[in-house]
Amino acid sequence: MTTHLPAKHAETGGGRDLKKADEAALLDLLETLEHKHGFIPREISEELTRVIEVRLERLRRIQGKLDSTIRRDVKVHVARWREEEGNLIMILHAIQNQHGYVPREVAMELARELGVKLARIYEVITFYHYFRLQPPGAHSLTVCNGTACYLKGSADLLNESRSRLGVSEGQTTADRQFQLEVVRCIGCCGMAPAVVVDGQTHGRVKTSDIPGLIEAAKKQESKK
Ligand code: FES
Repeated sequence: MTTHLPAKHAETGGGRDLKKADEAALLDLLETLEHKHGFIPREISEELTRVIEVRLERLRRIQGKLDSTIRRDVKVHVARWREEEGNLIMILHAIQNQHGYVPREVAMELARELGVKLARIYEVITFYHYFRLQPPGAHSLTVCNGTACYLKGSADLLNESRSRLGVSEGQTTADRQFQLEVVRCIGCCGMAPAVVVDGQTHGRVKTSDIPGLIEAAKKQESKK
């Protein structure tokens, strides 16, 4: 039986540089062959293996570079705070200042460097609301949920914010535009319920104000 690789592969005589479209075509072809004959011809499976190996090798090289940068940075933070009491929190602050959040791979490296369990690191991160596990957004929307704001309907503001942004508190939207936060009292109880958008406090906010506040923040960005 004769089988054909995608046209571009044939043109390049071995196709060292299979592009995405070639790979998609190859996968389609494999599926068709498997469906039709119940097996995949050897030359095709060998080519696929080669493409995957090239990709993996490239990923390993990128990962290796990342790993060494992470290791170096974590060592610097640990060396700075090693002798101090409560150093884990100080190191986590340094990491968050550097990245804007605490990336999982950095937390793993920190656990290794300090010789503590990763679960211990996450215990601390999740106990203190200050620490973030996701990258920050370009904008922030913070809903106050302290007693005064709660009594004036902050739960509705929070629900509206969640639904408009499609994320829960402590999360960032997939496009990294907005992060949603909740705090307990920002000291403006007289103007409850209050929200803070990009550092600016808004008082006596109504649920219907939330979409406008989000849009206004986005427009500010496009003016910059
Ligand atoms: S409770 Fe919201 S500002 Fe004080």
